[in-house]
Amino acid sequence: MIPYSIPSITFDPITGTINGVQPQDRKLSDLKGYFIDSNAYNARLALDNPVIYSVASVEPDQGDGQLHYGIGVIAPGQVGAEYFMTKGHFHAWRPAAEVYIGLSGEGFMLLEEETTGKETLLPLNAQHIVYVPGATAHRTINTGSVPLVYIGIYPSAAGHDYGVIAERNFNSVLVNVNGQSTLVKRDRFSIAS
Ligand code: F6R
Ligand code: ZN
Repeated sequence: MIPYSIPSITFDPITGTINGVQPQDRKLSDLKGYFIDSNAYNARLALDNPVIYSVASVEPDQGDGQLHYGIGVIAPGQVGAEYFMTKGHFHAWRPAAEVYIGLSGEGFMLLEEETTGKETLLPLNAQHIVYVPGATAHRTINTGSVPLVYIGIYPSAAGHDYGVIAERNFNSVLVNVNGQSTLVKRDRFSIAS
């Protein structure tokens, strides 16, 4: 029997649009405190308030064994030397892992294990897959000149815990140093670098 009640979903890997799904926008003003260069942040916000990223989420069902997914689109750009990026989060249900698949554009995922603080920076380009283990903070960063589009698939029970990262941020920042994406410890970053 064909399960007609399960809809066929189509998406555009370049724009990140999922047919029939309204994305949630995160504007520059929603990211207050996330970028390391607060002067550059304030200067840009005085000019305009662009959408930094948006996520179209699909939540077919809740309960044991169910999955949710979302397509994220991060605009190209920088605040000071730091590339446009997501807020980043832990999953509220810590054991929940996630699979990210790059669809278009160029960027990275920054992972940080909660208990050890171990950091991993992995490319997230088209046809790259990144497995995010449980209890690992994850942030997506666009280092290219076009939108970075990706899909993330996660347990329906995962939830988002933004609090830890909003409070202390990641231990490192990904910055453009002479055209090179460079990971620098937050406490060693100087605006002049
Ligand atoms: C879901 C997930 C992604 C992100 C998206 C936006 O668990 O990891 O769908 O929600 O990349 O990033 P945040 O949620 O950090 O604003
Ligand atoms: Zn997640």
